[in-house]
Amino acid sequence: MQEKILILDFGSQYTQLIARRIREINVYCEIYPFNHFPTPDESVKGVILSGSPASVRDNNAPSPDLSGIKGIIPLLGVCYGAQYLVQNFGGEVMASGTREYGRANLVYLNNNDPLFVGINQGTQVWMSHADTITRIPETYEITGSTTDVEAGAYHIKGENTWGIQFHPEVYHTTEGTKVLSNFVTGICKCSRNWTPDSFIGTTVSLLKDQLGDDKVILGLSGGVDSTVASFLLHKAIGKNLTCIFVDNGLLRKNEYNKVLESYIGLGLNVVGVNASDRFLDQLEGVSDPETKRKIIGRVFIEVFDAEASKVKDVKWLAQGTIYPDVIESVSVNGPSATIKSHHNVGGLPEKMHLQVIEPLRLLFKDEVRKVGASLGLPDFILKRHPFPGPGLAIRLLGKMTREKLEMLKEADDIFIDGLKKNGLYDSVWQAGVILLPVQSVGVMGDERTYENAVVLRAVSSTDGMTADWSHLPYEFLGMISNEIINKVKGINRVVFDISSKPPSTIEWE
Ligand code: XMP
Repeated sequence: MQEKILILDFGSQYTQLIARRIREINVYCEIYPFNHFPTPDESVKGVILSGSPASVRDNNAPSPDLSGIKGIIPLLGVCYGAQYLVQNFGGEVMASGTREYGRANLVYLNNNDPLFVGINQGTQVWMSHADTITRIPETYEITGSTTDVEAGAYHIKGENTWGIQFHPEVYHTTEGTKVLSNFVTGICKCSRNWTPDSFIGTTVSLLKDQLGDDKVILGLSGGVDSTVASFLLHKAIGKNLTCIFVDNGLLRKNEYNKVLESYIGLGLNVVGVNASDRFLDQLEGVSDPETKRKIIGRVFIEVFDAEASKVKDVKWLAQGTIYPDVIESVSVNGPSATIKSHHNVGGLPEKMHLQVIEPLRLLFKDEVRKVGASLGLPDFILKRHPFPGPGLAIRLLGKMTREKLEMLKEADDIFIDGLKKNGLYDSVWQAGVILLPVQSVGVMGDERTYENAVVLRAVSSTDGMTADWSHLPYEFLGMISNEIINKVKGINRVVFDISSKPPSTIEWE
């Protein structure tokens, strides 16, 4: 039985961060919408109520049914969660005169309280709320205060329930991880046994039980998620897993062969399908981004379906879906959680009458990489930059032609190779070249040219949701620009994208 912590989500932007911090302590946890969580069984060692953009004073404020939890299982309310436990049990929450936002210090801190054992007096915490607790119920005792907020933290006497109005999960709460660790290991008594190796052990034995002698197919993209999923399944069922790796002609230069060879070298049962012409014929002359995406999606399904049908008696389609694809912060106004469904090969399971299996659906991206490293996968797969499914098609703006695609592949290769050779690749989250539908005047030797312009794009990010442009050295950019203009026929101008997301996006279309 895997012991766990449940996090009830009230829609805070930080809920996923609470989960990540707890898992970094090697304790397993799961996030559920506040109005849609499983009845806790013995495996649930503690419950955390998250923050929320809502106010507990609103008539339609999110109200969970805590009857099977409060007073029975250790409970920690964070921000909204702490205010909810006050407002609904005899205390009072009011709009704070000044919005309490930013750094503060716990000028009073009770080190005898199990939540604050070992935490420094005056420790820095991060506040982010418009409401504040103005009166606590009689049975509550204050365990931490800032200069402005008396009820910064409290404990309910005689009960395993705590509340903190600050956010322990954010970086600016300097001892936040220690507070969470005090809760999950000290109070909830979870053993710290959730590790990549333990995950591999449990998942492989679950997959063996679930799949028996059934056959499974999986579409490899060359990316981290599908690769790690395939190696987990390979460990569980060996040759009963068939992986299909499709060359759509839109991958980076030489990527298809390099990746296919490494998969084969690592012992994976993989079929490579070179379908470049099929994709490129259909894309020729197309410029609308959504049309490109639709064509690529449709042709992929046709190619994948044809190849998968060659595997006799296949019952399952495996996918590399990860946790952020499965959970999404709840809409606090909506009646139920919006759960994103994620189908790389949309429609295929129904069409082929396959059941879907997703061995990574409970992992965050950094955990997927750790599992991959434990499985012995090489760095060049684990540290590879994210790459969009429609590939270079969405980095070639304007009408698609094979000639322009070759030009883009060459320029992209020079940039990526340059990042690697100059030790910059790992400090960048994602990089690539975009070919613009723009020609400009240049001069080469005695001749004037009228050729294409490309953009270098490189960003830092943690999840692709927000991103900043990477501050690459000028000397490096100058060198790459020279190399592209000198070596790639048809390009006479290179520019560098200095936009962050938002308001821009990482890709140009
Ligand atoms: P944007 O451009 O939205 O990109 O800032 C965020 C991340 O998503 C990738 N991306 C895609 N991935 N199919 C994909 O599989 C797509 O159509 C697509 N569009 C963007 C992008 O490369 C970045 O990692």
